[in-house]
Amino acid sequence: MIRRAVLACATLVVLLGTGSMPGQSAGFGDPLPGLLPAEFERFRIGLDDFLEVETAEEGLGPAFNATSCAVCHNVPAIGGVSLVSEVRAAYRDASGNIGPLSGPDGSPLDTLFHLFSTPPHSCQPRIPAEANVIARRVPIPVFGAGLVEAIPDEVLQGLADPDDRDGDGISGRAAVVTDVGTGRARVGRFGWKSQHATLRTFSADAYRNEMGITNELFPQELAAGVAPAQLKRCDPAPDPEDVPNRRTRLAAIDNFEAFLKFLAPPPRGPITGAVQDGERVFAQIGCAACHIPVLQTESSRHPLFDRKNVPLFSDLLLHDVGTGDGIPQASALPHEIRTPALWGLRVRRPLLHDGTASTPLEGIERHRGEAEDARRRFEQLDPARRSQLLAFLDSL
Ligand code: HEC
Ligand code: HEC
Repeated sequence: MIRRAVLACATLVVLLGTGSMPGQSAGFGDPLPGLLPAEFERFRIGLDDFLEVETAEEGLGPAFNATSCAVCHNVPAIGGVSLVSEVRAAYRDASGNIGPLSGPDGSPLDTLFHLFSTPPHSCQPRIPAEANVIARRVPIPVFGAGLVEAIPDEVLQGLADPDDRDGDGISGRAAVVTDVGTGRARVGRFGWKSQHATLRTFSADAYRNEMGITNELFPQELAAGVAPAQLKRCDPAPDPEDVPNRRTRLAAIDNFEAFLKFLAPPPRGPITGAVQDGERVFAQIGCAACHIPVLQTESSRHPLFDRKNVPLFSDLLLHDVGTGDGIPQASALPHEIRTPALWGLRVRRPLLHDGTASTPLEGIERHRGEAEDARRRFEQLDPARRSQLLAFLDSL
């Protein structure tokens, strides 16, 4: 008993320690160093909610992909990835246009098809036989998400070159979306399709889409092809299911937002001479044109978010690199995918949006379209420079 209390105290000191010492680098899953005690408390409550396993009585389902956020975001620490992938489906017509499938009553279906449903499973979405586009998507880690949120729209718009005016073959597009939480037009940056701009809206979308928990921003249940009356029978809990705590007035989506905002970026691996050489090769052959090494946050009254360098290795723009999943979503076209951040790459497998690349090398070999030139230059590298480049990627 006493031992356990001592241990608990030690954990608390360690946690508060990492939470209050500025400049100290944080590990995977740690809070940002330098949080104020009240912020650390918000982070902790958010972490609890992120880990919380929901039941049907609490609103889980009727269709869902997992029972907690952490089920899909836990490798190598809470906030990371997992082997769960989600399924989306659509219809490609004879002229190649891709659009939604139709439900039994002819209305367009959402492209998300849930993996699971609550008993007796009469609200389990099924992919209609007409589907000829079926795509899988792996999770994206959320380490450092608050810093990514704090990068101003103008920075991303400034990087965009939709008509390739500079003629370098790369035409990144800023994904302008209407943020459901604020109603404002914003540059999306979260998700494989840059479908959301803010962490609150992404959390609300994930709570409904992944777990079937309706909330202030997404108050309607979703199960592709299931009629509203049937949905009510499968899940009689009144919507929205995520209700604010009476005392704090915070709902789970607010707590997820706080956890994501205050979660530290992934720590970098050891930087050797080969890694430094590899980073130069990465820039020379044009990888850094999309995987931009560092972006800066806007000026902020909050010292932890004020003009901070964010070494994410992404422009957060939409590109066609020949791997597109065929699913149109938010402002993204079927063939467009957001440049993934490469920070934390060494702890993430499998790679690419659909998890079809086992190694960074395999991932690079799949680059086509706007990344054709960069890939060709990679293929022409001599073995020494190629292994430097791969050592660099393994340090991220
Ligand atoms: C079934 C697995 C699963 C569950 C459960 C899940 N996620 Fe995710 N998460 C994903 C996948 C897959 C993506 C990429 C989705 C996409 O772009 O379509 C993702 C992406 C994200 C991102 C975007 C990160 C970025 O930088 O682009 C955030 C934020 C996020 N999830 C938060 C959450 C929160 C909060 C919850 C709980 C409410 C949650 N997730 C539950 C699988 C899951
Ligand atoms: C035109 C923009 C562009 C260029 C240039 C580019 N990439 Fe990418 N990269 C992307 C996009 C977009 C993806 C995501 C593709 C997908 O998931 O389908 C990606 C994915 C990756 C991945 C897998 C990451 C993950 O999370 O799954 C790696 C590794 C990678 N790129 C490395 C490189 C290297 C090395 C180079 C230079 C040889 C390079 N890229 C050049 C846009 C680019």
